[in-house]
Amino acid sequence: MQLNIGDTIEVTAHETDMFGQGVAKYHDLVVFVKGLIKDEKALVTIRALKKHFAEATIKKILIQTSTRRTLPSRLGSLDLYHLRDEDQNNWQTQITANHFSRKLGYNGPIEPIISSQLTLNYRNKVVYHVLPKPLLTLGMYEAEPIQLTEVHTFILNSHAIQRCVAKLQQQTVEIDPEIFKHVVLRSNEKEQVLMTLVATQKTFTGLDLLVEKIKTFKEVVGLTLNIKPNEKTILGNESYLLFGKNEIQFDFGRLKLKLSDQSFMQVNRDVMLKTYDYIRKEIQGGIVIDCYSGIGSIGFYIGDLAKKVIMIENNQANIEAAHENKKYHQGHYEIIKGNAEKILPNLTGDILVVDPPRAGLHDSLLQVLNQKTFKKLIYLSCELSTLTRDLKVLQEAYDIEKLVPVRMFPQTTSIETLVILKNKNNQ
Ligand SMILES: C[S@@+](CC[C@H](N)C(=O)[O-])C[C@H]1O[C@@H](n2cnc3c(N)ncnc32)[C@H](O)[C@@H]1O
Repeated sequence: MQLNIGDTIEVTAHETDMFGQGVAKYHDLVVFVKGLIKDEKALVTIRALKKHFAEATIKKILIQTSTRRTLPSRLGSLDLYHLRDEDQNNWQTQITANHFSRKLGYNGPIEPIISSQLTLNYRNKVVYHVLPKPLLTLGMYEAEPIQLTEVHTFILNSHAIQRCVAKLQQQTVEIDPEIFKHVVLRSNEKEQVLMTLVATQKTFTGLDLLVEKIKTFKEVVGLTLNIKPNEKTILGNESYLLFGKNEIQFDFGRLKLKLSDQSFMQVNRDVMLKTYDYIRKEIQGGIVIDCYSGIGSIGFYIGDLAKKVIMIENNQANIEAAHENKKYHQGHYEIIKGNAEKILPNLTGDILVVDPPRAGLHDSLLQVLNQKTFKKLIYLSCELSTLTRDLKVLQEAYDIEKLVPVRMFPQTTSIETLVILKNKNNQ
């Protein structure tokens, strides 16, 4: 069966995969259709052809499932918005089960997913891109084809962030989009916003006018300029204060955090706190090592239950914030700056918490963890593939005790997972 790009065919999806694509068969060819849901039938247009598979876009849905909320979003960052919220939870649990079974041979129980009713406007940090236009225009990436498009309302924005974006979009400011690249906004419960202009240089056309205008936004408690280090990275480690303070404060009751523009914090407050409550139940005294600790949010949340918490983090801005945050929390804390793979071999503790970036754990760290006898290992991951890669190595010394999907990023295919592991020798 000869197919060409641009042809329209009829397919039925037998699966919704981990990228939110419907997977269908057309004769011997596997066809991936962005936004098509399992059991749906559609007319689709072929947009890419490879030897064993094709990629297609929906032309018309012929049979629609009750799990569909709407048509697929054009934005790449809303790649699961078309699925109803409860079905997104089921999707994530199923993807996690399949992945663990395929990669690790794990077919054990999966705990109920940690999620929240707040599935829109949950993001306390959002990145907008500056469009290549002479007047300031903000946007995001479209999924197909991948290109920047103007975006005013983004349904995941917190309300304070949304108000600031609306005000920014109304300004008429001549800028140089070759230099001025992104606007990053963070908001807290008091509806305060820390805004960061990201550029490749310290000055650019329109900067002074923009600062004057942003000063009038009542939400903004601080405005910084951050220097973009390279094409791929958004924020670098060079920030300049333009007005206010390079600081935003969060009060989550048990947890009080001060952040700067470069600090890491989970974007979804409700789900973050529920996940940390789950982790709390796993701590009963002893020395806890919080590896990849960022500004210390996990360590400080459980610190009152531990004999001592040792944090390891390699980013200077996060380390400084962690030292500041230490003042607001009861417990014994030691904060160490450095790479986890270098520091951890010299430490001993009872429970190890790891919350690494998407790349997962460093290879040498994995070897150390198999030799060191932590009673319990708590692994919070934002990338399923590196999580299962790491667990495959850790299976030598640890058993999976609990596998918990975490719906940290509703409306998207990003997957957060919590795994509680027990040392095989401690059972
Ligand atoms: C996913 S964040 C987790 C932060 C923290 N657990 C939290 O939720 O606030 C990962 C953190 O690991 C840090 N990091 C990355 N590579 C590291 C390494 N090799 N050693 C120590 N920290 C590292 C990053 O700077 C970042 O703060």
